Amino acid sequence: MKPLFLLSAFSISRTVWGTSWIVPGAVWYDTAGQKIDAHGGGVVQRGSTWYWVGYSASDSETDDRGTEDQTPLMYQSTDLVNWENLGKQAPSVTGMWRPKFASPNGSSFWLYGQQDRNVLSLSSSQFVGGYSQKAKGLLPPNKYSYSDTGMFLDEATNVWYLLTSADHNTVQINKINSDGSIGSLASTLTKGAYEAPGILESDGIYFLIVSGKTGYRANANQAFWATSPAGPWTGPSDVAPPAEKTYNSQNTYEFAVAGSQATTYVYMGDAWDSKGTEASNYVWLPVAVDAKAKKVTLQYHAMWKVDPVTGVVSYPATRKRYAAAEAEMSGRDGVVVPMAADRCFGGDENVCAAAATTDSDNNIKQQRTMVHRLRTGDEVTFRNVTGRFKTPHEWVSVRYTVNDPDAGEAYIKVNDQTTPVNLSEYNSRAGYHHMVPVRLRLDEGDVNTITLGAIGTAGFEMEVEGLELHEDD
Ligand SMILES: *[C@@H]1O[C@H](CO)[C@@H](O)[C@H](O)[C@H]1NC(C)=O
Ligand SMILES: *[C@@H]1O[C@H](CO)[C@@H](O)[C@H](O)[C@H]1NC(C)=O
Ligand SMILES: *[C@@H]1O[C@H](CO)[C@@H](O)[C@H](O)[C@H]1NC(C)=O
Repeated sequence: MKPLFLLSAFSISRTVWGTSWIVPGAVWYDTAGQKIDAHGGGVVQRGSTWYWVGYSASDSETDDRGTEDQTPLMYQSTDLVNWENLGKQAPSVTGMWRPKFASPNGSSFWLYGQQDRNVLSLSSSQFVGGYSQKAKGLLPPNKYSYSDTGMFLDEATNVWYLLTSADHNTVQINKINSDGSIGSLASTLTKGAYEAPGILESDGIYFLIVSGKTGYRANANQAFWATSPAGPWTGPSDVAPPAEKTYNSQNTYEFAVAGSQATTYVYMGDAWDSKGTEASNYVWLPVAVDAKAKKVTLQYHAMWKVDPVTGVVSYPATRKRYAAAEAEMSGRDGVVVPMAADRCFGGDENVCAAAATTDSDNNIKQQRTMVHRLRTGDEVTFRNVTGRFKTPHEWVSVRYTVNDPDAGEAYIKVNDQTTPVNLSEYNSRAGYHHMVPVRLRLDEGDVNTITLGAIGTAGFEMEVEGLELHEDD
């Protein structure tokens, strides 16, 4: 039973811009309805509150994406889903990339990041706000220039470690001294061109997660392991199927939700746009840790959450489904075809394919097994979609696949909207996963019309399975 004040705080945030789910790749809004702007960041827990610090990629002066601020912004949350913007932490500091929080002696508060390929450290006497520059320099002991700040608190020793990717393809791990200065070298990883390091620890095994070096283009991030931050680091192993390119993201940080029933490790990744602007999104996923096999594996889910009290991960139940097979198709080239055998529409994905063939209700079987195959110019229109207008916007999951995400896109129109919006503007997973939740504004009741269309090259095809609405949106 939650205390009453938590319930009322929750309902207040929901009447503003609340959500119940972590949706990797979607545009995430803060409780005031602004896009969350905390890139290359990390999350730390203090009491029952979680704080997310990252850098703002938006330009406060103009909107022209000219000189970006790159200044640390902090958000707070009690549920890891609804985040309130606490503002700039060091308003005079700009050009600071990937800020990470640390508190090396428990009574002063620090942010470490990269500025001009130096380590920039800021500190404050309070946790929120008031940060100012304390030091800036190259990375000891070898005066390496420096990039992609990571941070790890080793709870076994209560020591904070600064993680970096330094020159010469060296990922370097330095202790942070109790006075906040960068201390001795703990270990290095020199097994390849890696950057964007983060560490998680489970059962005495330390996993160092790193990305490859491909700029803002996603690559297959990998993990190494050791029995202490002092290394040596063994590996690599894949954190996800390599073709998924870490679900189009780059590692920035790992944190644990140590609950009463489970400890859930969370991977925080950045889904960069092509230039790393504020249009970039976030991919957070639970991490399965197999300390015996020395493997960490990202568990991809289009929508999920972790209970910050119990540590238990859950997923939304489906409230309603609208099968493409029952919707109207228009255009020249669209056809109704059987759904691919490894695909399904609705239900538990692992049992759905089996259910589709064994279902005695022909109608349901039909809905589950037929799709609309669209080409550029074709549309499928779903009528009488039930909106709740409980929140300003609700999640609608678009179930579809494309033959080539580089060849085109799905677009969407809701009700009297005349200009279609490409799904990638709502969710950077569009085209890369068969379930793409987008936040739409629906009217209350069975009155909404949603149109999906295909736009792309001559060879582009998409197969639309349908739409899903969720129980707790
Ligand atoms: C923690 O570090 C700060 C900054 O160096 C220093 O001012 C403060 O005295 C330290 N506190 C303790 C308890 O060591
Ligand atoms: C939508 O996607 C199509 C296909 O990739 C692209 O040609 C078009 O420019 C996009 N529209 C917008 C507004 O970005
Ligand atoms: C279906 O939606 C239309 C508007 O598109 C509305 O006029 C009609 O009343 C709806 N039908 C039902 C059964 O709700």
